[in-house]
Amino acid sequence: MTTILPLKGRMAWQALEAHYAKVQKLHLRQFFGDDPIRGERMTTEAVGIYFDYSKHRITDETLTLLLQLAAESGLRSRIDAMFRGDKINVTEKRAVLHVALRAPKGQAIVVDGEDVVPGVHAVLDKMADFSTQVRNGEWKGYTGKRIRNIVNIGIGGSDLGPVMAYEALRHYSQRDLTFRFISNIDGTDLIEATHDLDAEETLFIIASKTFTTLETMTNAHTARDWLLKTLNHPDAVARHFVAVSTNVEEVAQFGIDTANMFEFWDWVGGRYSMDSAIGLSTMIAIGSEAFRAMLDGFHQMDEHFRTAPFDRNLPVLMGLLALWYNNFFDVQTMAVLPYEQYLKRFPAYLQQLTMESNGKHVTRDGTEVVYQTGPIYWGEPGTNGQHSFYQLIHQGTKLIPCDFIGFTQPLNPLGHHHDLLLANMFAQTEALAFGKTPQEVQAENIPAWLVPHQTFEGNRPSSTILLERLTPAALGKLVALYEHSVFTQGAIWDIDSFDQWGVELGKVLAARIIPELETEGKYPLKHDSSTNTLIRRYRQSKFR
Ligand code: F6P
Repeated sequence: MTTILPLKGRMAWQALEAHYAKVQKLHLRQFFGDDPIRGERMTTEAVGIYFDYSKHRITDETLTLLLQLAAESGLRSRIDAMFRGDKINVTEKRAVLHVALRAPKGQAIVVDGEDVVPGVHAVLDKMADFSTQVRNGEWKGYTGKRIRNIVNIGIGGSDLGPVMAYEALRHYSQRDLTFRFISNIDGTDLIEATHDLDAEETLFIIASKTFTTLETMTNAHTARDWLLKTLNHPDAVARHFVAVSTNVEEVAQFGIDTANMFEFWDWVGGRYSMDSAIGLSTMIAIGSEAFRAMLDGFHQMDEHFRTAPFDRNLPVLMGLLALWYNNFFDVQTMAVLPYEQYLKRFPAYLQQLTMESNGKHVTRDGTEVVYQTGPIYWGEPGTNGQHSFYQLIHQGTKLIPCDFIGFTQPLNPLGHHHDLLLANMFAQTEALAFGKTPQEVQAENIPAWLVPHQTFEGNRPSSTILLERLTPAALGKLVALYEHSVFTQGAIWDIDSFDQWGVELGKVLAARIIPELETEGKYPLKHDSSTNTLIRRYRQSKFR
């Protein structure tokens, strides 16, 4: 076994530091000027995704060194360990096997002596059967009416994936069904999601890996009260509530018939679960065949990640580029800019995937890191973002690498809308990279005092990710691309990308404060002076 040195001790890291000093000021104008085929050369294509990374502030040597860093970091063996089912989530002592969720029938992946793939397919079959019954109206509500509204109650990975996938694949959804998503503990979420629904026609999916999450369980109980107010009989619950969880006992305790529970496993992380039973709402929306096509898309990207040489491996290249900016240019944020309205929730989905995974301050063995880990991800669909925050990306003082995601074929052809959409996307990548020099501005007879304002420095990096059409399979490929890019970064930083201890403290402190808000002055307040005063102010307003 080769020893892996701490990140800053790796030869490639040190070489990258020296290299950075040499290339940090070089301009993309020069790179493209010196190499007329850079835009063809620095691209790669796999599983139907064209990835153009030529507009990055890298040279061939940068790439060589980054690839060397991946090798010295043991990335290959880390990938193998994940696919083998090793317990790579070290702090929770769990395997990390979202890749098993999309493994085809017949492939074997063994966890604790058991091949998990047959179980995955048994749940998929059960989901398919149930989805078909809801879609064709066979699954009736308690009073015999067909189900027309599907409400997913969940939060974090049990919400963001389902919402994102529903929005992304809406084009393929059964239009006589209404889908709603409730996540927030703020009562407004539930009130607004249910106010116009007929309880007799409404099915709730309670999606929670643990089935103990405060928000989800509170919303689930309130939804049950809402339903029973109309249907007035506890037996109605079984026709109107199903569960997606790993926790049979809690599901039964809630009153949901465990025959209507769709199982998944502790080796599926919440933010990696949209392709598990957590995707039940997605399957009801688009049908089981389309859902399986999405899984196939995921699987194609998994296989690409597992087998492709790193210099042509999309998630590896993407992860290395993110690391290059994060650790050498000290970049704080990365923008994800889909030029596809259906992907409007994709950046929000990616925020949990990237930041809950790689927002860590210690390495796997608990040592404090001495380098930056996960960057902040954010974004909005184009062209909307162009009329809001792009100003800062073009001319602000911060460097923000961008991922532009586009599709060559529209799902809704409409006049020349799509040409305009893609023209804008390509133009943004061009403007960011090459900018506009003061000389170019002057040549337009702009008064001298305005020249600095109209100058674009350029040299702002971006990737362009181009696919043909937003199909279920394409969505699977895109999500898996980001999943494995996150994995690549986490492996090099040597952090546990699969735990999320950082969410716990707030939960514990909230549990302590809840009774203090619910009773008038019974509990002596023992917080700091700020928190005490805030609580008193709330109580004064509430009990006035
Ligand atoms: O609090 C964070 C978190 O644990 C996420 O990782 C997870 O996706 C979310 O809560 C929801 O958890 P559950 O599916 O168990 O309700």
